[in-house]
Amino acid sequence: METPRYTAKEFASLLGISKAALLKMESEGALPEPRMDDGTRVYEPHAIPAYLKALGRPPLVAAGRRQIFLNFKGGTGKTSISAFYAFRLAQLGMNVLMIDLDPQGHLTQCLGIDHGAFEATLYNVLIERTEIADVVIDTKMPNLKLIPASLDLSPVELSLTSMNARELRLRKSLASIQDDYDIVVMDASPSIGLLNLNGILASNELFVPVLADFLSYHGLKILFETLTTIEEDFDFLLDNIYIFLNHFNASHNICLRAREALEKHYSGYLMKTIIRQDTKIAEAASMGMPINQYAPTNRGAADINSFIREIYPNLPIAF
Ligand SMILES: Nc1ncnc2c1ncn2[C@@H]1O[C@H](COP(=O)(O)OP(=O)(O)O)[C@@H](O)[C@H]1O
Ligand SMILES: [Mg+2]
Repeated sequence: METPRYTAKEFASLLGISKAALLKMESEGALPEPRMDDGTRVYEPHAIPAYLKALGRPPLVAAGRRQIFLNFKGGTGKTSISAFYAFRLAQLGMNVLMIDLDPQGHLTQCLGIDHGAFEATLYNVLIERTEIADVVIDTKMPNLKLIPASLDLSPVELSLTSMNARELRLRKSLASIQDDYDIVVMDASPSIGLLNLNGILASNELFVPVLADFLSYHGLKILFETLTTIEEDFDFLLDNIYIFLNHFNASHNICLRAREALEKHYSGYLMKTIIRQDTKIAEAASMGMPINQYAPTNRGAADINSFIREIYPNLPIAF
């Protein structure tokens, strides 16, 4: 992963203005002058909020979106799609915090971070009361941060069991830093436990990747039953639930039938965007690279763009 550099034309399109307007406003001093490198102007995504402010524009998204990717079934794409989605949002200028809620640390690896590169996980926050800001680490992009996970996180379930307010610890901790970010994206493990319950209660939006098979479909039923119980027990309501099909192959009959079943029973939650099967997605994830950098012209990257367009219809995504 690396910080992308935009041309003036690309950068202007991300700000929703023309290149001519960008250059004119820079020369008049109405916008910051970009850094120069070898005689070329260097535009980077983390500069976007300052430019929007100078232009008198509102931030890219309304603040306070805390999102969790969850499905009790493994292998549906929670980790890879959440990582690619968060990276792409950062590429487009948002300030993003990712939280790895899975002791297997797949998200951490998917972002190219080695488990020797950090000392603390959410375990220290939820159990030992370390300040959450102290466990946030940098990635190679200044506007994409991470709370990493490793096997050190695995005793958290057992340790939480005997604690007070054990379900709401993450929500309370997160409150102290969430205003520093436009979006918080959490990647859950495929289990029903206290850590995931903390993740759900700290979120206001849920993303559920499903595979087009009937096992995933059954998992969805269990997920919704669990959510109903949580809503009742904790007087809690999610603002949005997005179900999306991943690993989709339109030439497989089962995919088409599963899609029909989802449209019939979950139409209110089903996203129009479908993430197609793409071997580049698996390759990118295994190399710790985001798909929009590894294979930006492939269908996987195009599907992540459509996904983001559907969630943030007003966000400029010009390329
Ligand atoms: N659309 C896709 N096309 C091809 N491979 C995919 C796709 N989505 C996910 N994968 C791959 O499937 C495997 C499981 O995905 P992962 O994100 O780890 O799922 P989860 O976190 O839900 O267990 C990984 O190897 C991943 O790279
Ligand atoms: Mg995972």
